[in-house]
Amino acid sequence: MLPPPLLRRPLAAAARLALPLAGPQACLATGPRQNNGVFYEIRTYDIKPAKMKEFMEMVNKYLHFRTAHSELVGFWYSELGAMNKVLHIWKYDNFSHRTTVRHALANDKDWQGKFISAALPLMEKQQNEVAYLVPWCQLGKPPKEGGVYEWVTFQMKPGGPALWGEAFRAAINAHINTGYTTLIGAFHTEYGLLNRVHVLWWNESPDHRAAGRHSAHEDARVVAAGKT
Ligand SMILES: *[C@@H]1O[C@H](CO)[C@@H](O)[C@H](O)[C@H]1NC(C)=O
Repeated sequence: MLPPPLLRRPLAAAARLALPLAGPQACLATGPRQNNGVFYEIRTYDIKPAKMKEFMEMVNKYLHFRTAHSELVGFWYSELGAMNKVLHIWKYDNFSHRTTVRHALANDKDWQGKFISAALPLMEKQQNEVAYLVPWCQLGKPPKEGGVYEWVTFQMKPGGPALWGEAFRAAINAHINTGYTTLIGAFHTEYGLLNRVHVLWWNESPDHRAAGRHSAHEDARVVAAGKT
């Protein structure tokens, strides 16, 4: 039985400025980690409640200075389950790639001057995590623009995907197979709070999601997968 999600955070796509490039929900059976060095930095910022609108306007205006340096998987703001949060995911080829990018950003006068110096006072807290896609998952793509995203976090037992991977995969696939939702990615953490898995889902609307979950949890295949 999987532990319950610690956090449910349906996210509406606000400034979804870059779509994942990878194609279908291809699933590869490899070891406990993917072979190349690619990782994802997940950044969560708490924005001062009165400043959210201003912050998002700045993001829309200036994020291109940031995306000039490295690939953005997506940028979301919270709508349900958490308030005044933004979440963004960055892809890096390896850690030295990230160091190079961070160095370039520190020296980018447009990014620092136009965005960072004005955006920092609007934030209450910043958090980052480094995560890998779980071994069988490639980044998926939403079938169309818009929709809502759901960010679900699971606290796993220590041991990594080698230990819990198959049961987790069965539970995720059971939801995919019901057809109501699209998997965008399943990430397990490497730095940050350990042994966490974040799953990013796409749904057409919160009502589609609600109806889909309702029928999924009456579906014997889904219920059985949750018991593994
Ligand atoms: C790290 O990534 C950079 C940028 O893609 C690449 O040029 C470099 O060869 C990689 N280094 C290693 C050790 O893989």
